[in-house]
Amino acid sequence: MVPEPTLQFGRKIVLSKEAVALFISVIMADKRHKEEKLQTAKGMHDILPQDYHYFTFLKKVVRHRFRQSGFKRISTPILEYSEVFTRPLGEQTDIVQKEMYSLEDKSGNSLTLRPENTAPVVRAYIQHGMASLPQPVELWYWEPMFRYDRPQKGRYRQFYQLGVEIIGESDPALDAQVVHLGCSIFNDIGLRNSYSVQVNSIGCKECRPDYIQQLQHYYYGKQHSLCADCKQRLEENPLRLLDCKHEDCSILAQMAPNFADFICADCKEFQRNFLSYLDELQIPYQQNNRLVRGLDYYNRTVFEWGDKSSGAQNSLGGGGRYDYLVGMMGGQPNTPAVGFAAGVERLVANMKEVGFEPPFKDVVDVFVAQLGPEAKKKCLPLIAALRDAGVRTVGAVGKSSMKAQMRLADRFSVQYCLILGEREVLDKKIILRNMRKAVQETLPFAGIVAEVAKR
Ligand code: HAM
Repeated sequence: MVPEPTLQFGRKIVLSKEAVALFISVIMADKRHKEEKLQTAKGMHDILPQDYHYFTFLKKVVRHRFRQSGFKRISTPILEYSEVFTRPLGEQTDIVQKEMYSLEDKSGNSLTLRPENTAPVVRAYIQHGMASLPQPVELWYWEPMFRYDRPQKGRYRQFYQLGVEIIGESDPALDAQVVHLGCSIFNDIGLRNSYSVQVNSIGCKECRPDYIQQLQHYYYGKQHSLCADCKQRLEENPLRLLDCKHEDCSILAQMAPNFADFICADCKEFQRNFLSYLDELQIPYQQNNRLVRGLDYYNRTVFEWGDKSSGAQNSLGGGGRYDYLVGMMGGQPNTPAVGFAAGVERLVANMKEVGFEPPFKDVVDVFVAQLGPEAKKKCLPLIAALRDAGVRTVGAVGKSSMKAQMRLADRFSVQYCLILGEREVLDKKIILRNMRKAVQETLPFAGIVAEVAKR
């Protein structure tokens, strides 16, 4: 007779044919499971429960600061017609050339996942006739953005931005207020010593063309020392040559003509006033003549909050004035505007780095434990009633053993535990245990919600 296949471990355990088959199928299922374990898409990330209190706290600070300053919240769609971005951001910018997530809908329209929110907010300002409201219109947002960027520390393909846009009034005091607002938020979340403010003026339609011409003259003949991107930028977007991080480009940029020598009298005066308001607001700043920003819609004031801990590689936020954008997007020409946006994930990473601990609000007041089917039935409405009465309540209605439930109660570090067994159900009573003092009392079931809410 042919022996049945078995597995023998040492001398003690002999497995039957069925057990071997089961054993193999479990191993195979585990292997398949490991192979099929799905991940977030590259550059995308989850915000996990242990991190949420940072995000919640930051959002509260942001909401408080913006509302306190009279801003109104706006939400725009995640998907916009691609032209909302291609027209104002600049065809030659990295965002438009390399970083947009674009798709064609079933009608053949090109749509893009929002890579930034200034253009959509301006689109909404024009579309909803906000020009007829008292000016300036002051709006704030907290929204996810999408950029097909090269992922690295602090750089994601989906990330949140908080930001403001002030549309319809031109005054350098507004620019200074916007910078002050950003600083206030960063200070509130413990980053007072972690950032630096860099400012610059990139002039206007009048003075910028002259400067760009000078810049091109300076770079002609030096193309061989430029990186591939900058070679292209020299023709298409020469200002961006100034802030290239590539070593050779950076050395050349240090010796390039300075915009300050070309800026027109009006822009100079605007910048002078802007800086004097920053002084009044006691905001320390550095003048950075090479700060040009990566989006084409700016004029005059530009600024950035550099992250001191990681060098200037990752900016915490940035913004500036964009007086031509409303006109460029089909609205009233010469509608002035200024705003900023900051990266939420980068701020949270910095909060952690400096050891800032936001208050942890996810505390639970009461844990409801039950034993037996009748007690379980009574517990469901009891938990709901406690929650309605404002008591933060957790009940382990899925757990059966009292030991497991008490272990869970310990994990939540609750002060009170309500315990309902079959005996208590019959007696119309319930046990209220003070977990910290390790004492308990038996009380009437009927008034227990009011009793707990009182304590
Ligand atoms: P931005 O400099 O492109 O400006 O982005 C603002 C901030 O968003 C950055 O300083 C950074 O903190 C964050 N950020 C950008 N890209 C990423 C990324 N891939 N991963 C994580 N965080 C990122 C704007 O978007 C303008 N719309 C700002 C503005 C508002 N200008 C006027 N009003």
